[in-house]
Amino acid sequence: QTNVILDCDPGHDDAISIILAASKISPLKIEAITTVAGNVDVGKNTLNALRVCDIAGLTEVPVAQGSSKPLLNKMEIAEEIHGETGLEGPALPNEPSKQAVDQHAVDLIISKVMASDGDITLVPTGPLTNIALAMIREPNIIPKIKEIVLMGGGTFGNWTPAAEFNIYVDAEAAKVVFESGVPITMFGLDVTHQALATQETVDELSEIDNPVAHFVVDLLKFFIKTNQDVFGMDGGPIHDACTVAYLIDPSIFDFNHVRVDIETRGEFTYGMTCVDTLGVTNREPNVKFAHQLKPNKFWKMFEEALESYSA
Ligand code: BDR
Ligand code: CA
Repeated sequence: QTNVILDCDPGHDDAISIILAASKISPLKIEAITTVAGNVDVGKNTLNALRVCDIAGLTEVPVAQGSSKPLLNKMEIAEEIHGETGLEGPALPNEPSKQAVDQHAVDLIISKVMASDGDITLVPTGPLTNIALAMIREPNIIPKIKEIVLMGGGTFGNWTPAAEFNIYVDAEAAKVVFESGVPITMFGLDVTHQALATQETVDELSEIDNPVAHFVVDLLKFFIKTNQDVFGMDGGPIHDACTVAYLIDPSIFDFNHVRVDIETRGEFTYGMTCVDTLGVTNREPNVKFAHQLKPNKFWKMFEEALESYSA
């Protein structure tokens, strides 16, 4: 069993990642879901997290709302990918059955990690604002965090030519996290673009007959379309799901250990993750960098996770 806090901005791929984590094939114990401003504003992301909890049957998991804006930047959202609600596509339950807890995400992260035996893995799939703030507010959490398994960055960008959305939105926060010394496992665009959902994926997953699988299929249909329209891709890369896929079965991915630094000053490169693939900096690697996904294994796990929601 791995204890996790999912820090997210749902978001189609964030939602799918929660659903994989909550499935019966998952060894994860979800300690909490925390939200951050990202794909849409933090209030919408929180509402979506609560809705996904209902869909995935996560009645007991606390949801805490977090930062409403990045450390220094103006808010930047990704409505053209995720729609106005942040989770456009499927019919959504109007009112979630539970509310967010009355504690800020940053405080919840700190209290959970401090109370733990050093066995909590943080899984950020949005901008890193909450994680950086938690580290700044209570540095004693830093040696107690087991691992940070995040989606962000890569050797190319999707928000600028150099920067990926999650890192671009709050590069200062990313810098705090990447320089913290906590072991980081990073799923950047190099690998998440290999987790590409296509029309064929939709056709196959449509055969799974339960409400959770139907919900995921509806999410994917919308997400594939916007990724085609905006990026001209052949499908929708379900970026964030790579983090949970790894925690369910690490053998789905291949890694190398590299130094990654965050660009916070470049005119054209703000938010870039500088991945030292050839070791030219001679600096100690700080990241386990996923570079290869095994598609057959990934999609088999994905189908099994969705099938596990059938009665
Ligand atoms: C990341 O940005 C968001 O839109 C997605 O949810 C994912 O976390 C991909 O760049
Ligand atoms: Ca996300």
